[in-house]
Amino acid sequence: MFDSVPTAPPDPILGLTDAFKADPNPDKINLGVGVYQDETGHTPILDSVTEARKRIIAAEKSKTYMPITGDPAFGRHTQSLLLGADHALVDQKRILTAHCPGGTGALRIAGEYLARLHRGATIHISDPTWANHESVFGAAGLPIETYDYLAGETISLDFEAMLESIEGMARGDVILLHGCCHNPTGIDLSSEQWRTVAERIRDQGLLPLVDLAYQGFADGLNEDAGGLRILASIVPEMIICSSYSKNFGLYNERVGALSIIASSTKAAEAVFSQIKTIIRANYSNPPAHGAAIVTTILDDAQLRKRWEVELAEMRTRINDLRRKFAEALAERRVKLIESGNDFLNHQRGMFSYSGLNREQVTKLRREQAVYIVGSGRINIAGINDRNLVPLCDAIAAVTCAR
Ligand code: LMR
Repeated sequence: MFDSVPTAPPDPILGLTDAFKADPNPDKINLGVGVYQDETGHTPILDSVTEARKRIIAAEKSKTYMPITGDPAFGRHTQSLLLGADHALVDQKRILTAHCPGGTGALRIAGEYLARLHRGATIHISDPTWANHESVFGAAGLPIETYDYLAGETISLDFEAMLESIEGMARGDVILLHGCCHNPTGIDLSSEQWRTVAERIRDQGLLPLVDLAYQGFADGLNEDAGGLRILASIVPEMIICSSYSKNFGLYNERVGALSIIASSTKAAEAVFSQIKTIIRANYSNPPAHGAAIVTTILDDAQLRKRWEVELAEMRTRINDLRRKFAEALAERRVKLIESGNDFLNHQRGMFSYSGLNREQVTKLRREQAVYIVGSGRINIAGINDRNLVPLCDAIAAVTCAR
């Protein structure tokens, strides 16, 4: 039966890591997958995480199953990171949270919920978006369309075009918004733009689904949830898929959360009961360890402080690297787009959408052993003092025809 099975194409992001590992070039540079790396190219375990692990192992008495939606304490902490402490939605029990295996797991459960309970709804994703969004929602059986987001010429937000796209969405449709650090562009909405979008969403009867995978990587924990909080103050219902992979460095523990906000406690409970049946039929209940690390850190004021300092260090380092990258390109007179490279300085979070085209991306990989995603997305967090110069020389070499 297996002899006639065709080979699937490699994943556009994770497949790049495999290709990088197989490359024998000792000077190869990996700026593909969105994983934080320190100055030595290593993805560290945070000290706060190491301490939390010790405490968990010392106190652990059982490996019995988790509740289907995970530890309620984890849910409470997630809600206060998303909305801020003591938010009215929590008091009113209008927000409920399930621990899911990673942000991807949360998106998949949300997708299945929408496909099953809101038949006929289309999900609208930004063009461009994270390469896996289409696969996840497609696998869940949701119809998918894209909305305008990027002005390609200037690598900036085309807000007018975005609003026009929203106008064309049907009542009951779902719009996916990146909470912060838009993946892959690094281009976010301003507070004012969030407000405008939120009002349109409310007036048109759309359901927003916020994907928040990089909270704390742009300006700070509260600042990066600003758009989501504006939305929550304007629309009655929302889905939030959040991830702890990046901000706690818990990539391989698969810790994410699916939160739903409904217009009443009763509606929230009904939606949550459906979410539970979907989780049960998928992976039954979540893996405990990663979420226990998050809960242990957030439960303890000192550990939490330590984590916030470590998160701020990652954020500061990324922002410094972005500046150094832009400067090094300027020194080489590399102009990524006609209007210059200023756009790089306005991008936020781990990624920079560089304007490099597919041909240049392929040349970078084949001729310079520099690995970036096909869309031209560069993982800024993979740059360091050793690879900055060869990286910018390589980019200069492939863009010299401009
Ligand atoms: C990325 O976009 O590189 C990350 O979100 C990792 C992934 O799963 O694709």
